[in-house]
Parts: sequence; C-alpha cells; structure tokens
Amino acid sequence: MGTSPPGPTGEPLFGSSRRYADDPFRFLSACEEAYSGVVTFDLGPVETYLLTEPEHVERVLVADADRFAKPEFQDDALGDLLGKGLLLSEGQRWREQRRLARPAFQMDRLTDFANDIVAHNERLLDGWEDGTVVDVERAMTRVTLSVITDLMLGTDLSDERVQTIREALEPLGARFEPDPVRFAAPTWLPMPGDSTYDTAVETMESVIRDIVAERRGSEGDAEAGEGPDDFLSLLLRAQERGEQTDTQIRDEMMTMLLAGHDTTALTLTYSWYLLSQHPTVEQQLHEELDEQLGDEPPGMADVRELDLVERIINESMRLYPPVYVMFREPVESVVFDGYTVPEGSAVMLSQWAMHRSERFWDGPEQFDPGRWADNRDRPRFAYFPFGGGPRHCIGKHLAKLEAKLILARTAQEYRLEYTREGEPDLWPTLTMHPRNGMPMQLHER
Ligand code: HEM
Repeated sequence: MGTSPPGPTGEPLFGSSRRYADDPFRFLSACEEAYSGVVTFDLGPVETYLLTEPEHVERVLVADADRFAKPEFQDDALGDLLGKGLLLSEGQRWREQRRLARPAFQMDRLTDFANDIVAHNERLLDGWEDGTVVDVERAMTRVTLSVITDLMLGTDLSDERVQTIREALEPLGARFEPDPVRFAAPTWLPMPGDSTYDTAVETMESVIRDIVAERRGSEGDAEAGEGPDDFLSLLLRAQERGEQTDTQIRDEMMTMLLAGHDTTALTLTYSWYLLSQHPTVEQQLHEELDEQLGDEPPGMADVRELDLVERIINESMRLYPPVYVMFREPVESVVFDGYTVPEGSAVMLSQWAMHRSERFWDGPEQFDPGRWADNRDRPRFAYFPFGGGPRHCIGKHLAKLEAKLILARTAQEYRLEYTREGEPDLWPTLTMHPRNGMPMQLHER
C-alpha cells in the first residue's frame, strides 16, 4: 500500500512535538484511541510510527526482533550516560554481556536476595515515625538504590554517596524530558542544560570509579573463577581473563545502577499512592499480611503465597508503568497492516497507551487488583511493563521480588496516606515520575 498511516497532522515546523512534549501521556492515549493500529506523526527529524496492536508489539519485540535496533537518536545523550552497557549495546557485544550477566540474576541467588532486601527495608523503617510526612518516592529510591548496589555491585552505600547520586539523578532525568526544541535541533547544537547534564554524568562516573576501585582492592575478586556472583565480581573476573575493558565495566555498572533502582522505586511509589486511594484494597492487604505473616518479616517462601501483594504490583505497573514508552529503529523496511514502516524511522511502543486502552481492559482507568485473579483472555502484549523478547528486562524477577517484599514488610508496619489533592501530576523523563515527589503521612498500624 502506498498510502501513509493515519495520525494527527501537527503544526508547521514543530509537527506534533509540542503537543507530545506538553503531555506525552494524553497524546499517546489520544493517538491510540483515535487511530488504532499504525499511527504516524511528526516528532522531529525522523518519521515516527506508534504501533498500538498487541501483535505489532509482539512482532517488534519477539518475532521480528532482529529487524529492530535500539535507535541511533537515543545514542548521543543516553549513550554518554550508559555507553554500551546492556540496555543500549547490540549484536555480538550485547549477547556476550548478557551471557556474562546471567549468573548474577539466577533463581538460586534470588533466594539469598530476599533476606538482604528485607534488611535494607528494615533500615528505612527504623528511621520512620508515626504521623510524619515523608516523600515516599525518595524513601523508595533510597531502599532500591541500596539494594541494587549491594546485590549487583557488592557494596554498601554510605549516606554521603546516596546523597551524591540523588543530586545527580534530577539533572539526568531532566535531560530526557520531551522538548520540542531539542527534537527539532541537530544533535551537535549546544543546548541549555547540557553542561549540568555532563557534570551529573561525571559525578556518577566518579562514584562508580570509586566503587570499582574499592572492590578491585578487596580480597577474593582477583582469584579467577572464585568468589561472589554479583555482577561486578563477574565483570572483574572476566577482566582478569582479558575479556573486559575498564570502559565496559563502567558502562555495565552505570546501566545497572540506573536501570536497576528507579523503576522498582516508582512501582512501589505508585502502589502506595493507589493503596491510599483505595481503602478497601488496603484493608484486604493488611488482612492478607496478618494472616500469612503475623509479625514475622516476609521471606522468599512467603512471597508466592501473597496473592494480593502480587496483584497490587501488577495493577500498579498497569496504571503507572515506570517505562511508559519504548523506541526502536527498523534496520530494514517492515510492513504492519499493509503500511510500510521504513528503515531508519522511529517506532514507538507505549505501555501507557496499551495498559489503559478500553480495547483490552474493562474500566481501564480503575485500580482493580482483582482483575489479575482470573486467567484472562487478553492478548499477551496488551501488558508489557518489562518489555519482551530477547531484550526483555534482565532484572524482572529481582524487581518483582523486591517490590513484593518491600510492599509487604512496610505495610505490616504502616499505612501511608497521600497528602495532596487529586491525581499526581506526572513528570515524563525516560521513566515516569510523580512531579515533585509523593508526600505521604505515615500511620503506624
Ligand atoms: C519494576 C521494575 C522494572 C521495570 C518496569 C523495568 C523495565 C524494563 C524494560 C521495559 C526494559 C526493556 C527496554 C527495551 O526493550 O528497550 C528493561 C530492560 C532492562 N532492565 Fe529493567 N525494569 C525494571 C527493573 C530492573 C532491575 C531491578 C534491573 C537490574 C537489576 C533492570 C535492568 C535492566 C537492564 C540491564 C535492561 C536491558 C536488558 C537488555 O537489553 O538486555 N531492570 N527494563
């Protein structure tokens, strides 16, 4: 078919980029609703195609995965930050690194992780007091950051380092806010905010450099084939065998540190918000915890029994998917529903739009953990918070374990009450944050 797919017309010069930047969530949902299937719009120098059928998502991520690459246009700023770590690398290099990382995420390690996760959460609870108002996003970030550096970098983060990282995260996030001027400008053109971004990248690099140097200096890691299986140890041992450069280690650690904490913290943050808005579900959660756990902290064996905890996490990631949109670039022309999506264009898959579509969900805007109780006949890729196919999230099982344990342990002790009016305003960066945090009042149970 020679015709172009349907889509919003946009304005001269900016196309749809100003509408997108203004509110990407509303824009993505409006496109999904108005033109199901393949949608095209102008979002900058490359043609953009939003695919909104689960079969399309399945083709891009699974069946035709080798015809889609991580996009070039993400490679400059994001590339400066993450380099060729697991999230952005391609081909043979990606395959080798993914194979190298695998033992760090294996099921037998997850069992040990459970106790560590609860211990990190305990430290948070020790600092909480009945009646105080805390920024729950910040609190959840603190715990998930400690967990990821402990489990993947084998390091206990000092408060000072946490503070350094936290201060760098905001400018890093701000760089990826959709910005129509940036969309339209060539990548070499200096823009306001660039130097703050570069400084934040350097700060993160120096934290990682220090952690790696400390680990290198510690016993055990140098003995090839021996020692712990955290990802950094695996990389250092590979380096001993001459299979890993310093840059590769930097890139993998940066990727792990950033991809491995923010998304899980967001899942928890939105879960607390949703629970506070749905007291009946909150009450049922407390009953489940009291019945299954009593006063004992949850462990690996309990996690499988906590059905409602699992459903709350699933439903929270449906309504507030931390990764709300993903991009791919076709390496050759690919046809969807008779429309040609050309090589080099930008393909968008949106969790936000699909997870809230009336086509797949009854009452899509409602928080209803019960919808996960029955084994549903909805299409497989109407829900994909962790992506799919060969590039699916390597941390999926760890993230779910972590979210469930932290939610369960914290809800044994506290009820959290949202202190603002109305739904949280959302801040779109690479991931979806509540704007200005998530203030909640702590009520001891
Ligand atoms: C709720 C929490 C999480 C969510 C929603 C999430 C989401 C995702 C998504 C959607 C992707 C696919 C990106 C794409 O295909 O372009 C991905 C990839 C990835 N995630 Fe996660 N993630 C979570 C937790 C984690 C954790 C805990 C880790 C590390 C321990 C992690 C590390 C990674 C890495 C390294 C990749 C790249 C994998 C590859 O391409 O081989 N993520 N994640």
